[in-house]
Amino acid sequence: MLKNKHIALYISGSIAAYKAASLTRLLVKAGAIVRVIMTTAATNFITPLTMQTLSKHFVYPQQITTADAPVAHIALADWTDIAIIAPATANIIAKMANGIADDFATTALLATTAAKFVVPAMNEHMWNNPATQHNLTTLRTNGVTIIEPTVGFLAEGYAGKGHMREPSDIVNYVASATMPALLANKKVLISAGGTKEPIDPVRYITNRSSGKMGYALAQVAQQMGAQVTLVSASTLPTPPGVTIHKVTTAQQMQTAMNDNFKQNDIVIMAAAVADYRVLHVATQKIKKTTDNDQLNLKLVKNPDILATLSQQKTHQYLVGFAAESQNLLANAQKKLINKHVDMLVANDISAKDAGFNSDNNRVTVLRPHQASQVLLLASKQQIAKEILTIISNEIKNKKPCD
Ligand code: CTP
Repeated sequence: MLKNKHIALYISGSIAAYKAASLTRLLVKAGAIVRVIMTTAATNFITPLTMQTLSKHFVYPQQITTADAPVAHIALADWTDIAIIAPATANIIAKMANGIADDFATTALLATTAAKFVVPAMNEHMWNNPATQHNLTTLRTNGVTIIEPTVGFLAEGYAGKGHMREPSDIVNYVASATMPALLANKKVLISAGGTKEPIDPVRYITNRSSGKMGYALAQVAQQMGAQVTLVSASTLPTPPGVTIHKVTTAQQMQTAMNDNFKQNDIVIMAAAVADYRVLHVATQKIKKTTDNDQLNLKLVKNPDILATLSQQKTHQYLVGFAAESQNLLANAQKKLINKHVDMLVANDISAKDAGFNSDNNRVTVLRPHQASQVLLLASKQQIAKEILTIISNEIKNKKPCD
């Protein structure tokens, strides 16, 4: 989501500096080009070599030569799209608020016109000090975003406000702020993962779905400003800011989707729902017998959740996915019509470089009475962004009587 964004990560001298390492990894993973700037105090907590290795660039102000840039702090300031100050101590916050530029980091910060995100980390009393609060107000007035600390266990050995936000939250926050708010005021319901149908207390039937596509849709929809509910049969970590309902079976998924359907504007069935479940689930573990080499399980059809949702549809924009191993478009077109959905996203699961369990996807978007649209191979986050952008346009163009 931060693909090719130039991010300058400023690390100041707090024990939370160690978290800047995983923050850098996540930013790089999200596609950003990261340059790290460390204050002298920060280098007491984490080494420049660690940050250089993770960011794949020399750390400022180490290794600056006039050959790189005659005026290095200005070159960095002009290069920057987004400046993140994490962890931000009370000291660097005070300097930024008052325009003090007495080292490389604060000079570059004064010089940059890029969007700035300050992520404080400090003792609770330092946080509550009127001087710090006044400085934070000044920064907010100057258009700087403060990603507020949480109440947590501080290095001092007690709980208090001043705990730096987790790296994944910071990345999500920055990505949301840079994402167009295409789904502001919209409520989005998404299902994800492969359902599990029990055989006995030990075993179940499931499929190869990881839930990554549904989770990417949930995360990006939240970043676009939507209120997102995720009905999940996956074990992936919950995306920040998303309400989660964990389910296991298709029947549980149907109940959760039905319960939430009415109050949502966009409903996306990205889950791989088991089409059949075991008719008689054994209450005790099924033992293997010596006299029989075969075991027959009687399966019964699960409800088609998407088809039943389309029957209840009022204002909702309803999206289905189609997992196909052959005749992709023909089969997907049939599902678009038979399931009465507004959009069907067709997935070729035979592809080696995309689809099930992969971080990437390549899909074709089908809508009634419109030409199909191919979304080329990209990360699932990027595909999610493209799908949600198409949906936001569809909703905008939809007349109330449609
Ligand atoms: N789906 C559903 N309930 C089911 C089966 C599928 O809601 N019992 C939804 C999926 O979440 C997806 C769409 O229907 O959005 C298509 O799912 P897919 O597995 O591709 O197709 P099926 O309808 O199950 O048909 P088939 O397995 O024969 O391809």
